[in-house]
Amino acid sequence: THKGIAIAIDGPAAAGKSTVARKIADKLNYIYIDTGAMYRALTLKALNNDIDPNNEDELYQLLLDTTIKLTQAEQTQRVLLDDTDVTEAIRNEEVTNNVSTVAKHRLIREEMVERQRQFVQENNIVMDGRDIGTHVIPDADVKVFLIASVEERAQRRYIENKQKGFNPDLEKLKQEIAERDRFDTEREVSPLVKAEDAVELDTTSLSIDEVVEEILKIVERKGGI
Ligand code: CDP
Ligand code: CDP
Repeated sequence: THKGIAIAIDGPAAAGKSTVARKIADKLNYIYIDTGAMYRALTLKALNNDIDPNNEDELYQLLLDTTIKLTQAEQTQRVLLDDTDVTEAIRNEEVTNNVSTVAKHRLIREEMVERQRQFVQENNIVMDGRDIGTHVIPDADVKVFLIASVEERAQRRYIENKQKGFNPDLEKLKQEIAERDRFDTEREVSPLVKAEDAVELDTTSLSIDEVVEEILKIVERKGGI
């Protein structure tokens, strides 16, 4: 049901999905869509409006009244929430700790998926998330499921936060990641699971460039896109 070429990248938190997806999109000159950023933007708006992340109906009304735009300039992607740049704000700890609750609701997911599918209609894309290969684009041309040990993923976030000038707590990061994975895997509506026809790639001991190369090989094997 899509006109362009679609590459779906799913997997648990901090597996490297967005870093790798962005690089692949750059190399192939495709559009990169970060679906996690969409759930994060809605979460930020809900928190700012004192809406309970468990209140599905209020969140849904809020979402219908919300525009989320993903814009691309060279090397950088910006996230615009009702035309305000929230690229950095959506990564904060409060959003991170509430996003999986917001993302568990059926009404929210249906509306987000509809918006995500519109990108697929019009463009060649690389899309990353949790349910891209299983639900958003079940007929994607290439499906990759990225994994890495929870220790390695926490370590990656630790280094990332240090570089941003924060003072991260490795144990806390590990717990946060493990808990979000559990929540995303156990939810009722399109949980995090590897699509049957996805290629699983364990990146625990791979560099970013090695992962990018592996995925480009998969893309080539699938028909030299
Ligand atoms: O980058 P990180 O792994 O921290 O997460 P993200 O991709 O920004 O996604 C944040 C959260 O949004 C996930 O933990 C999921 O709860 C939710 N999400 C989802 O449910 N479905 C997607 N397609 C993408 C994200
Ligand atoms: O999007 P997702 O949450 O899956 O992960 P990410 O935000 O792209 O990557 C998490 C961190 O791991 C980033 O700081 C990457 O630079 C790093 N990374 C890495 O060190 N080695 C890899 N093979 C992949 C990512």
